[in-house]
Parts: sequence; structure tokens; C-alpha cells
Amino acid sequence: MAHRMQDKIVIITGASSGLGRATAELMVAEGARVVMADVNREAGEAAANAIGADFVRTDVADPAEVETLVTETASRYGRLDVMCNNAGVHAAASLLETTNEDFERLVAVNFGGVFYGTRAAGRVMAEQGSGVIVNTASNGGYLPTEGMAVYCGTKAAVVAMPKACALELAPKGVRVNTISPGTMLSGMVPDVAGVVEVLDRLQPIGYAANPSQMATGIVYLASDDANYVTGHDLIVDGGATAGRVTVGI
Ligand SMILES: NC(=O)c1ccc[n+]([C@@H]2O[C@H](COP(=O)([O-])OP(=O)(O)OC[C@H]3O[C@@H](n4cnc5c(N)ncnc54)[C@H](O)[C@@H]3O)[C@@H](O)[C@H]2O)c1
Repeated sequence: MAHRMQDKIVIITGASSGLGRATAELMVAEGARVVMADVNREAGEAAANAIGADFVRTDVADPAEVETLVTETASRYGRLDVMCNNAGVHAAASLLETTNEDFERLVAVNFGGVFYGTRAAGRVMAEQGSGVIVNTASNGGYLPTEGMAVYCGTKAAVVAMPKACALELAPKGVRVNTISPGTMLSGMVPDVAGVVEVLDRLQPIGYAANPSQMATGIVYLASDDANYVTGHDLIVDGGATAGRVTVGI
């Protein structure tokens, strides 16, 4: 069977861990040349060596670093086919205790990082007349969680903004989509006994996801299988946003 991402040049941010790493693995298995970007150099280099990808240390909250990541990748390989703006951070704090620093960091990484990555990749892709951008939002953008006001706000922004970008870039041959994962076990949600059991019970499908179950959605959106899909948010959350579950009464 032909590889769906054969020879595609792909950048993935937040690729040292969790969903970014799982997506890098699947992209490489599907034939892509992958540039893994992350603020965590040590973990990123180790992951890239294991997977057979490049690693570029990048802080997505810094527009200049994102610009360099994108332009140097495009100049090294001659083009950029896929940009996955996946890096994200989480901080659980009650509204009344959220600091300015926490607010600014979440907005800068979760929303700023997606914007900087979309703008930089969009320029390269518009010029070449092709390309796909896939962003990682969260089902928290639809179903906000108590104690996660800023995180959920940034993720709602990552559901909305890419739709406007998709409209602007569609005539230039560039598709822009988003995936909204539900709860998955990753660096952000550690696999700790007790916590995992509670999280499992909260999912209609009966368990919290493995990042590889989201990576398949990202590769679908990035591939030609989705060549008529743009401005779409693919919710992959085991039914969590489908409606309320009952407790047997
Ligand atoms: N885990 C979940 O339950 C869940 C649910 C919905 C959405 N998400 C989203 O999925 C994405 C991936 O998260 P994950 O669950 O794999 O968590 P993770 O913590 O395993 O991975 C996040 C990666 O982003 C990197 N990162 C953090 N700040 C960065 C920055 N400024 N610049 C570059 N890289 C940075 C981290 O070093 C890490 O490697 C995030 O956008 C997250 O918000 C996660």
C-alpha cells in the first residue's frame, strides 16, 4: 500500500512528547520527512533520534523562532507541505488565583504559537500554491472545565481562528484544519494510578485516549484523503462532547 505522506516535508511543534511525538512517528511511518520542534531540547533530540527525524529547538511563543523554523525548513528541503501547530501548555488554577504570568504564558504558547506557525507556514505555502496546516485545539474549547478558564479560552480561540485562516488561504491552495482531542494520557495528563481511573470513568467510550489515537486524525487531515476538507475541526474525544451521559438513573 502506498504511503500517504510519501516525501512530504512536515513540521510538528511540541513534538518531544505526547501527541506531537506520536504524530511524528506516524508521519515518518507514512513516508514523510519530519522536522520535530520543541522547547525541550533534550527530550526532543532523543525522540528525533529514535524516530528518524530532524529536531530544531523552538519556543513557539517567540515569533522570530517560529519564523526561523519555517523558513529554514522550507529553504533546506525546497518546500513545506505540512505544518502541525501542536505545542501547548496547561495550568490548572482557579480563576481567582490565576496569575498574570500564567495567563500570558498560556495565551502566548497555546494561541500565539498557533498564530505564528500558521502565519509563517501560510506565507511559504501560499507562495508555493499548496500545503496543509493542522492545529491542535481541545474539546475543552467546546466543553470548558472548571478550574481551566484560560486553557479552555485559548483552545476555543484555536478552534475559531483556523476557520478564518482557511477561508483566506483556500484560494491559494492551502488547507487549514484543527483537531480537538479529548482527554489523552501524555506529558500533560500523566499516567498515574488513581487519576487515570477517574479520567477513564469520565469518558463515554470508557477510557482516556492514547496520543496515537489522535495522531491518526492529524495524518488524515494532512493527507490527500482530506483534500476537500478545510476550515474543519475534527473532534476526537470518545464522545465526551456528544452530550451528557447518565449515571444509570
Ligand atoms: N493531553 C490531553 O488530555 C489533551 C487534550 C486536549 C488537547 N491537548 C493538546 O494536545 C497538544 C499536545 O499536548 P500533549 O497532551 O501531547 O502534552 P505533552 O505535554 O505531552 O506535549 C506538549 C509538548 O509541547 C512542548 N511545549 C510546551 N511549550 C512549548 C513552547 N513554548 N514551544 C515549543 N514546544 C513547547 C512540550 O515540551 C511538550 O513536548 C497540546 O496543544 C494540548 O493542549 C491535550
